[in-house]
Amino acid sequence: MKIKVLGSAAGGGLPQWNCNCANCAAVRRGDPGITARTQSSLCISENDRDWVLLNASPDILQQIRATPELQPARALRDSGIVCALVTDAQIDHTAGLLLLRERQTPLPLHATPSVWAELREGFPLGPMLSHYCGLDYREIPMNGRGFRIPGLPHTRFTAVPLSSAAPPYSPNRNRPAPDDNIGLLIENETSGAVVFYAPGLGQIDTPVREAMAGADLLLIDGTFWQEDEMMRVGLSTKSASDMGHLPQSGPTGMIAALGGLPDISGRAAARQRKVLIHINNTNPILRDDSPERRELDRHGIEVAVDGMTFCV
Ligand code: MLT
Ligand code: MN
Ligand code: ZN
Repeated sequence: MKIKVLGSAAGGGLPQWNCNCANCAAVRRGDPGITARTQSSLCISENDRDWVLLNASPDILQQIRATPELQPARALRDSGIVCALVTDAQIDHTAGLLLLRERQTPLPLHATPSVWAELREGFPLGPMLSHYCGLDYREIPMNGRGFRIPGLPHTRFTAVPLSSAAPPYSPNRNRPAPDDNIGLLIENETSGAVVFYAPGLGQIDTPVREAMAGADLLLIDGTFWQEDEMMRVGLSTKSASDMGHLPQSGPTGMIAALGGLPDISGRAAARQRKVLIHINNTNPILRDDSPERRELDRHGIEVAVDGMTFCV
């Protein structure tokens, strides 16, 4: 099974179009030690031919151009993307669906019931796309049971409810539902390898901790270094937790949580890869030479970059 990072940045990307923070300015200047990144999305394949899109970012066209595997060119109109799965209804994870409208058949879309409701109401991609290719909704079960996705016959997915935030246009913004945001356990039934993917993770409760501890590869929320990161640079009045993201630093942050994972079947201690994704452009870990990056290095935590590929 191959997992490719199409986009490793949070909403806005790096550089963000209207941002002159230190990181965005450094990328625009072409400074060494910091790399441009597009918005949050992965793709996954068992055979390098059929690909499932995990989240569909507004940068999807650029991401597809940068990933030749996604265009097998078997016909005049063609794509390696067989279907999509979205983990929430945020713009940075769903707006790309609009840009796939030229498909000739409805795009199978795996989503939870709350996310699908948001994509028909608050952000009505479903009704809009019904005038183009259409979306073929496939419900993600929230009962802890595994489910399958077309194109990946030997892969089992399981949804893990996450405590994060529904988008501002969602009726669930102030009354969270368990299926607003999910993490995904992705199990390669051939190799036995397990991946946990959670680009928006606000809290690590017991089921999430267990899911993380049992995984060989973690692809998890790297949005902010600090709880008040956006406030410090004067860019927002919202904290990381207001936005449903657990920052990396501090006694209850992601670094501490990753260090305290129980060692299930020797995985956590020995060979688990821990990779941060969905990184906001304000985050100092984006600079290769920052003290914050060195702290991650010391803890064996990696920072995703676009194009990074994992074979599990
Ligand atoms: C988030 O991950 O919190 C959102 O995608 C923020 C945004 O709208 O950019
Ligand atoms: Mn986001
Ligand atoms: Zn910026």
